[in-house]
Amino acid sequence: MHEKIDQLREIVEEKFRNESADHDWYHVERVLKLAEFIQGKEGGNLEVVQAAALLHDISDHKLNGGIKNDCARVSREILTSLGADPEFIECVCEIVDRVSFKGAGVEDETGSIELAIVRDADRLDAIGAIGIARAFHYGGKRNCSLYDPDLAPSLHASFEAYSSGESHTLNHFFEKLLLLKDRLTTPAAQEIGLERHELMQHFVDSFLEEWNVNVKWR
Ligand code: ADP
Ligand code: NI
Repeated sequence: MHEKIDQLREIVEEKFRNESADHDWYHVERVLKLAEFIQGKEGGNLEVVQAAALLHDISDHKLNGGIKNDCARVSREILTSLGADPEFIECVCEIVDRVSFKGAGVEDETGSIELAIVRDADRLDAIGAIGIARAFHYGGKRNCSLYDPDLAPSLHASFEAYSSGESHTLNHFFEKLLLLKDRLTTPAAQEIGLERHELMQHFVDSFLEEWNVNVKWR
């Protein structure tokens, strides 16, 4: 199995080589490392965690022309081509389409410990310093403004509303990023998440203070 994980890593790295920085191979690699770390603390099957981390964004709707919940289909194809065990393939496929955040008002589906680990790892990479960088990169790519004081955040009740919502980038912090700390479920990830959350909260507070030109020397 170890060898198959190495082969899978090569396939995924190749596929993500030219993706943009909010969603590139380095994102996948960081999620893999975080997931391996959390698995070391929390248990679960290491190979399932590694394969699901590598495949969790393999067919994202933002990159595949709008097809939702397509990661399991593509993962099954790739793992089958590598000759992986059918039971192993099912464990991984159970995870990959359940990782993404689907809106503030949409409850996360529960599942295996491996799902909880990969989801937490993906969420940790969406917050903190890297999270801020990824959000503004994504917003820039979509030509969003940094902030618009007249456009309030909305807590989406469905994946449809969340994924079709167009807003400025600062709203993404209120609609998703600042909510993630309380939506991590493994203690190991919750510990890492705390500091990343605080950094992000400080960033948002400073951003709004600077926007309003609340400078101390005035
Ligand atoms: P993930 O890879 O963690 O599942 P997504 O696929 O939802 O995350 O998004 C990829 C990156 O782009 C994340 O860092 C996310 O926070 C950011 N992002 C997604 N939607 C927006 C948005 N509307 N505005 C700014 N950043 C966004
Ligand atoms: Ni991801």
